[in-house]
Amino acid sequence: MAQQRITSDLDPFSESFRADPYAHYAQLRALGPIVWLEKYGIWVVQHHAQVKEVLTDFKRFSNAGGGGLTNYFKEKSWRKPSIILEVDPPEHERTRRVLMRLFTPGALQKMRVGFQVEANALMDRIADRGEIEAISELVQPFPLKVFPDAVGMPPLDRDKMLVYGGMVFGGFGPRTAWYEKLMEQAPEISAWVDARCERSALNDEGLGAAIYAAADAGQVTHDEAKLLVRSFLSAGVDTTIDSIGLCVNALAQHPEQWRALQEDPSLARAAFEEATRYDSSSQSLFRTTTEALEYEGQQLGKHDKVLVLIGSAGRDPAVWEEPDRFDIRRRITAQVGYGTGIHGCVAQMMARLEGEVFFRALAERIGRLEPTSASQLRLTPGLRGLLTLPLAVSPR
Ligand code: HEM
Repeated sequence: MAQQRITSDLDPFSESFRADPYAHYAQLRALGPIVWLEKYGIWVVQHHAQVKEVLTDFKRFSNAGGGGLTNYFKEKSWRKPSIILEVDPPEHERTRRVLMRLFTPGALQKMRVGFQVEANALMDRIADRGEIEAISELVQPFPLKVFPDAVGMPPLDRDKMLVYGGMVFGGFGPRTAWYEKLMEQAPEISAWVDARCERSALNDEGLGAAIYAAADAGQVTHDEAKLLVRSFLSAGVDTTIDSIGLCVNALAQHPEQWRALQEDPSLARAAFEEATRYDSSSQSLFRTTTEALEYEGQQLGKHDKVLVLIGSAGRDPAVWEEPDRFDIRRRITAQVGYGTGIHGCVAQMMARLEGEVFFRALAERIGRLEPTSASQLRLTPGLRGLLTLPLAVSPR
């Protein structure tokens, strides 16, 4: 029988919560396995076990209600919903299969070569600069170059992808003055994205062309192919920038871990994996109940939104030993930083590759990596990341 409702007045989108999410996650975990957040009238799950369960139970916890706070069963989205992230089976299987097939070992190996050239050149450019603002000078330039190159986009006004990413992930949170201001650019940016996703705007070698080739083969329609390219542009840039930025920050804040990586640069992939658990871009996902149901002793209504805190699952002491310690040698066996279940990040092997190549080049070519003053957080509610990260650097 359902018990009395467990409630909290915590606001996961507030500035104070976002400034120190991990302390707040611990407070939520102490309350129970599922909690009602009064401010938004939504549920939240915060333990590894329930996060995993909700993400894998797509029959009861749907994606069709939207990837953010807006409930598509009750309100309209500002853009056409994603045809991969915001749909359930059987529709989901068809679109997902097209994207899954892109990341073959051969395709990843080809990407690796291009990524390495870019990462090494980037490190050489900044190594003797003394002091840098690491987000704009070290972190952003890497995904902003290698990702659109891999998709097959022309080298034009790629910075607009950051504005678009801000709108997509900003749209996952509540409507704030910051978001309304950003959305004044929506007509211009939507038109730009739309044009960039056209087949004629993409070269013949990239991931974009491969998606259109799947449409030629009848696996999806050509209109769907365009929306799948859009999904890449939505999900492929800010996520990687923020995750790499937070990992650079974690290394700069933990000199002994930075030394360990320098001594053995082959730990680069493990370091990025640990950062994806410890402090990563994707902290929160959403699901919506398909029907009224009882879960962990609480009574959920039909079409209730459920906030799924994967960032909290990464710090759950029931699963991780000393979860608040950043340890690049940790064996990660229960990663949920890329989600899990049928919607688990379709490009996680590419994201890991970007991280591995970036941190290997950093460890091999940079000596000093020290914070010079406080970093600033980004405001985008759907993602965690840094706006600025002042660092002192030297060549190795
Ligand atoms: C470090 C970087 C990244 C992180 C942390 C990340 C995280 C995630 C997470 C947590 C999900 C699951 C969403 C959910 O279940 O609601 C997801 C899905 C997805 N990601 Fe990523 N992602 C990253 C990079 C990328 C890149 C580079 C791309 C594109 C090339 C991408 C494309 C996608 C797509 C299309 C989905 C939807 C998959 C589906 O619904 O089946 N992601 N990602």
